[in-house]
Amino acid sequence: MRWTVLTLICCSWTAHGLIRIPLRQMLSVRTQLRASNRLEDFMRDHQPDVFNRRYAQCYPPGIPSLRLGKSSERLYNFMDAQYYGLISLGTPKQNFTVVFDTGSSDLWVPSSYCVSEACGMHRKFKAFESSTFTHDGRMFGIHYGKGHMLGIMGREVLKIGPLTVKNQEFGESVYEPGFVFVMAKFDGVLGLGYFKHIMNQKSVDQPIFSFYLSKSKMPMDPGGELLLGGMDEALYSGPINWNPVTLKSYWQIKMSSIQVQGALTFCPRGCQAIIDTGTSLIIGPTRDILALQQLIGATPTSIGEYLIDCARISSLPQVTIMLNGVEYVLTAESYVKRELMGDHEICFSGFQGEDLPSSTDPLWILGDVFLSDYYSIYDRGQDRVGFAKARHTRYATLDAEMDR
Ligand SMILES: *[C@@H]1O[C@H](CO)[C@@H](O)[C@H](O)[C@H]1NC(C)=O
Repeated sequence: MRWTVLTLICCSWTAHGLIRIPLRQMLSVRTQLRASNRLEDFMRDHQPDVFNRRYAQCYPPGIPSLRLGKSSERLYNFMDAQYYGLISLGTPKQNFTVVFDTGSSDLWVPSSYCVSEACGMHRKFKAFESSTFTHDGRMFGIHYGKGHMLGIMGREVLKIGPLTVKNQEFGESVYEPGFVFVMAKFDGVLGLGYFKHIMNQKSVDQPIFSFYLSKSKMPMDPGGELLLGGMDEALYSGPINWNPVTLKSYWQIKMSSIQVQGALTFCPRGCQAIIDTGTSLIIGPTRDILALQQLIGATPTSIGEYLIDCARISSLPQVTIMLNGVEYVLTAESYVKRELMGDHEICFSGFQGEDLPSSTDPLWILGDVFLSDYYSIYDRGQDRVGFAKARHTRYATLDAEMDR
């Protein structure tokens, strides 16, 4: 079950030049649950899920477990996912909203044959209405929390913006477990993870894509941009600093250290970091994160979140992440997440503990908290990930204009 999107995307690069895919920022499942006062119940019911969220590899139950290699694993769930974009499958086109996810490598959307509650809430792919659909016959399974997503595989014409990818392998889910997918504002997931056999594609000029994640919460503002084929200089400032990919399954790089201003340094002997647009927070080993939460004055709630007093944000220390000799500073304004509960604001730590299995150094995940401050560039040609300071002024100006 090797279904990758980029094998195909990459080859059309030259002809299409730069392709801009607008991203929208929408309410995460967590935010929706909180707003409707259901978060605590949900977390209690899903304790084993929520606190042990590692995604296993694809293995359909009842079918001998297939060991498919790391690239088929989803490291983290989508409970906090906020940035989505539009794709279409089939002829005529059927639209789907998907998470563009650098932390997984599969494309799936709900199937018209799916009767799960989650599928009832989303657009479903109707194979019988498409003249370009090819049945594959294989099944797939992805382990999500307590349950398995089950589906069937096929091939279709995939359209992302003006880009057309013929014969794209994808999955149609016929069973979607649990409640997260019921509330999710996205229909499916398009993985942009790392595949070794991509490296065999020699026909590629610029096998690069990049992400800009907006910080603006204004409903009319762009939520961000996925750019296929290069990077957009209007969206970042200063130099791009590159990091070699250390393990070509996820977009994984070396992290030299992470330091709380004037205090502790974590992973002083180096760690590994996965760059994951599908994860919202910064995830690290539980012991390190616990110490870090204390240093930033975050206090735990009964459901494992860490609260911060919003009034104290301006006095909290900076957190500096060292990658390949370059310091990436996160101020509290960046690493504290704000949410409106009725008419008052609550603040949360943007760090979360999770001991992820790793055969090498301790593993961290740099999610949207980091990636909204730093424009990220994924270069398959040279096996590297680049970061540059994201420029948020364009939209900040727009905000100011709209306020007037
Ligand atoms: C799919 O989305 C595009 C872009 O928003 C829109 O123009 C088109 O009408 C949609 N098609 C369907 C069938 O909903």
